[in-house]
Amino acid sequence: MNVIEVIRAKRDGGQLTDDQIDWVIDAYTKGVVADEQMSALAMAILLRGMTGAEIARWTAAMIASGERLDLSTVDRPTVDKHSTGGVGDKITLPLTPLVAACGAAVPQLSGRGLGHTGGTLDKLEAVPGFRTKLSNAEFVRQLQTVGAAICAAGEGLAPADRKLYALRDVTGTVEAIPLIASSIMSKKIAEGTAALVLDVKFGSGAFMKSVDDARELARTMVELGKAHGVVTRALLTAMDTPLGLAAGHSIEVEESLEVLAGGGPSDVVELTLALAREMLAAAGLDGADPADALRDGRAMDKWRELIVAQGGDPSAPLPQAAETEVVTADRDGVVSALDAYGIGVAAWRLGAGRARKEDPVSASAGVLLRKKPGDPVRRGDVLMELRADTPDRIPPARDVAVAAVTIADVAPTLSPLVLERLD
Ligand code: URA
Repeated sequence: MNVIEVIRAKRDGGQLTDDQIDWVIDAYTKGVVADEQMSALAMAILLRGMTGAEIARWTAAMIASGERLDLSTVDRPTVDKHSTGGVGDKITLPLTPLVAACGAAVPQLSGRGLGHTGGTLDKLEAVPGFRTKLSNAEFVRQLQTVGAAICAAGEGLAPADRKLYALRDVTGTVEAIPLIASSIMSKKIAEGTAALVLDVKFGSGAFMKSVDDARELARTMVELGKAHGVVTRALLTAMDTPLGLAAGHSIEVEESLEVLAGGGPSDVVELTLALAREMLAAAGLDGADPADALRDGRAMDKWRELIVAQGGDPSAPLPQAAETEVVTADRDGVVSALDAYGIGVAAWRLGAGRARKEDPVSASAGVLLRKKPGDPVRRGDVLMELRADTPDRIPPARDVAVAAVTIADVAPTLSPLVLERLD
């Protein structure tokens, strides 16, 4: 097979054959196809697209590049959740123990934040002692004993994707729906879960800015899951405004603990329960009401069990920022918009985010919102707190945080958080 012919075929708008796809993924994983050749192909795919059949084959080839976990020894139904990411999206933290407390096993392989979006593993590492790296054997054992594990994907899972995602990151080829869908789904299918619920976000703080793109991504991923025998559903959810009040690691763990204790911001509770209901239904556990497990403390007990199982101390104090500055309202009115992207960039500049995968993050930095859209304000009221480890981090974040808030005379019409459901 000649890689230049494969690149030319896609460059000219053709459909790749099964053999071409299998060969190019395998050859790239083994280093026979060079990075510059794969980046040309990725750009051709971004510009020309792929048919459903091509996406299915590409995904199958990425799964076949590594191992597929066997969760058949777990005696509870397995169900995972994947979010396409956003600002203040800490939902995995309360959701995973909640769904496990209702009788499912949740094999949650998670990622780290990049740019303005946060990542679950960074948030959990704010908990003293918590280990995000588990061997496959530890992962499966914990699903058997605790019913939930949240950790990084092992090296052996879809190695073709690991290499290709890193390449796309530096060649402007991340934003291709066929490549995003196959990247996410190859890892989820290889993880061995029987069911999967996707939280596909749209809006300024999301990957997909438009609802139409989010819907196309969701539809593509649901089809891929079903084709591989995974019960797959998706919710399309809004990401124009940060979720909850906290965007940062320690403060998002604190907010998650409020939800697990039966309180917390209403949007975080709403989305946690909506996803929990979808997950339980997908796992065939429709009878369980997740709201009960939040109320009666079972979800909190499961959180503590999960943290202890992964080496963390659920009673230890979380890291706190040395520097805090407040942003106040400059007029009377109503908060009419709070731009998720702007708040995400502010949290990133405060130290919560990273520009490159290898950069460290601060556990205690972030933005703690005091007002959300629809809240009335008086001049001088605190809109948010900016938290950082060092004072020099605050000024670059302040400008973008201030610009993210709009105060108007009239209250905004608030859009629903969950727009649509696909299955
Ligand atoms: N997340 C992934 O895992 N892959 C992508 O391509 C985009 C987001």
